[in-house]
Amino acid sequence: MTIKAQTSLRTTRLELVPLGPEHLDLTIQLDMDPKVMKYVAFGVPFTKDQALQVHQWLLQQATYVPGFGTWVGFAGGEFVGWWILAPRPIADNPTKFSKEEADFGFRLSPKFWRQGYAKEGGCELLRHAFQDLGVVEASGETMTVNAASRAAMESCGLKHAATFFNDYPTPPPGIEEGEMRYSITKEDWVSSVSGRQ
Ligand SMILES: CC(C)(COP(=O)(O)OP(=O)(O)OC[C@H]1O[C@@H](n2cnc3c(N)ncnc32)[C@H](O)[C@@H]1OP(=O)(O)O)[C@@H](O)C(=O)NCCC(=O)NCCS
Repeated sequence: MTIKAQTSLRTTRLELVPLGPEHLDLTIQLDMDPKVMKYVAFGVPFTKDQALQVHQWLLQQATYVPGFGTWVGFAGGEFVGWWILAPRPIADNPTKFSKEEADFGFRLSPKFWRQGYAKEGGCELLRHAFQDLGVVEASGETMTVNAASRAAMESCGLKHAATFFNDYPTPPPGIEEGEMRYSITKEDWVSSVSGRQ
């Protein structure tokens, strides 16, 4: 697997470093925690094998478009969670990835919930995406019942773009309310940043 140039980022409290194989135990810890997984995937903790596959998938996100990838965040040296800018496959050629669109998301350890960390890391990733990487639109998807995820995306400036309903072989509880996509364009990000100054 070729890892392309993904840079470390900093915020007031977070050191955000590119995910590496050395972070395996940290992502597994999140993926096997019932609280973290309540509204993710099947709504139950992943098995260790599934969590290993997720770790590989997270690593792979740094191999398609330079600068994109998964970042692990540390506050005072303690693991807080991960944030992602994943490249999106081009609709008519799924083996190629867009440099202009990014899938955005996060998964944090419950110890750090509701202290502004998802927002802090998320805002920095969006800044990086729009200012440094040339992304023009970032989007994230979540279950409608995942109020925390929706609020955290909104706090980073994303807005509700669509509600959709998919059929799953093993549907997680709450999926009957559907899923939502949130997004923000570079144009809207620039206006929101200049509005804050
Ligand atoms: C979703 C998640 C990343 C939020 O992380 P967090 O660090 O607690 O979020 P923050 O503290 O940065 O809060 C950001 C905003 O969301 C709001 N928020 C956070 N948790 C909330 C909740 N349970 N209910 C309602 N609002 C919530 C905060 O009040 C804040 O709003 P504000 O900026 O208007 O004040 C975290 O709960 C998590 O990792 N959950 C499990 C994994 C997951 O669901 N990931 C997303 C899947 S798509």
